[in-house]
Amino acid sequence: MPLIRQDVYDRIVSLRRVLHQHPELSGQESGTAAVIADFLRDFGVQCRMNVADTGVVADIPGKTGVPCVVLRADTDALPIQEETGLDFASVHEGVMHACGHDGHTAMLLGAAALLSDEKDLPAPVRLIFQPAEEKGTGAQAMIHAGALDGAGMIFGGHLDRHYQPGAIVVADGAVNASSDNFTIEIVGQGAHGARPHESIDAVVVGSLMIMALQTIVSREIDPARPSVVSVGQFHAGTAPNVIAGQAKLEGTVRAQDVIVRRQLLSSIRRIAESIAQLHGAKILVSVREGTPPLINQPDMADLARRAAIEAVGEENVLPLRTANMGAEDFSYYLEQIPGAYVRFGGQVPGKEGFPAHSSKFDFDETALGVGAAYYRAVAKLAGQRLRDQQNRS
Ligand code: NI
Repeated sequence: MPLIRQDVYDRIVSLRRVLHQHPELSGQESGTAAVIADFLRDFGVQCRMNVADTGVVADIPGKTGVPCVVLRADTDALPIQEETGLDFASVHEGVMHACGHDGHTAMLLGAAALLSDEKDLPAPVRLIFQPAEEKGTGAQAMIHAGALDGAGMIFGGHLDRHYQPGAIVVADGAVNASSDNFTIEIVGQGAHGARPHESIDAVVVGSLMIMALQTIVSREIDPARPSVVSVGQFHAGTAPNVIAGQAKLEGTVRAQDVIVRRQLLSSIRRIAESIAQLHGAKILVSVREGTPPLINQPDMADLARRAAIEAVGEENVLPLRTANMGAEDFSYYLEQIPGAYVRFGGQVPGKEGFPAHSSKFDFDETALGVGAAYYRAVAKLAGQRLRDQQNRS
């Protein structure tokens, strides 16, 4: 049984299927934006299109003079060929909603429909339909475009196959990791494969580096604080009988707090420089900083938990079972204003083995009603908090 009005539930399920069938890659979500705007128009909700190119921002009025509560969905799909066999599978070759962002968009539109009907909201509500989450650039672009202007708090969430449908997962502290990439370019001395004494072998230097980098997480970081250093690429060499003079390593670094994040990046640099020096090679280390860790402050997690209990009942509000080392660019919003990020159980029996970003990823659509009910509840609870703060000041 859906937790929201049947007519709204039916609309968001069919809308989700339309989006699922017509997925668009990061930065190209213009068809998705048009579907969103049409839906909002039907419920009399004002919206602005073309925010940060393909983003949509909608505003629902509430008590004037109170900062707005922001609710955020992401809208982009992934470059994956769908293999779910669903009858509303993607018709766009090589593009798929494999992370549930079609669901996130549908549940937020459900909340918009429900909230548009409410009289006297304690604070205005703003809905952000953010593009390009998968690239990690959409949130910053929306912030630069003014999506948080006049905002007091922000809430978001993600579908999760690990939890049963109907469940909302609320956690204090880190719920997603930071994500930074690094490149190490090694310049040694190429030589004939039979004359190693005339070389500085960039393959050997790079291999030693990769092994030494493994000791950062295992020997330098507190084991109680999750972290990852993965080298994903190692390019070198041109022929079996030529010693490579150059090599390039590229990898990713994940951490759940800013101190560990700094420590990982500085250890990578120190280890790479030391090993290069040990063998007389030159190196260039560069780091491309990505999303910060996503951390729920306890008072905001508490507010989200109360909203979740209101939406689905205490027995369906669960703690986070394991740390997630994936990244989520919602963290950029939380650097600006308070808020919280939750997870919506979406398990489909028999499909638990297909994670997000897999070609067979699917979720249980009852989660759409759960998400809409949660967003409605959190918009009102957070709105009351903001209104009370305003009255006291
Ligand atoms: Ni996602």
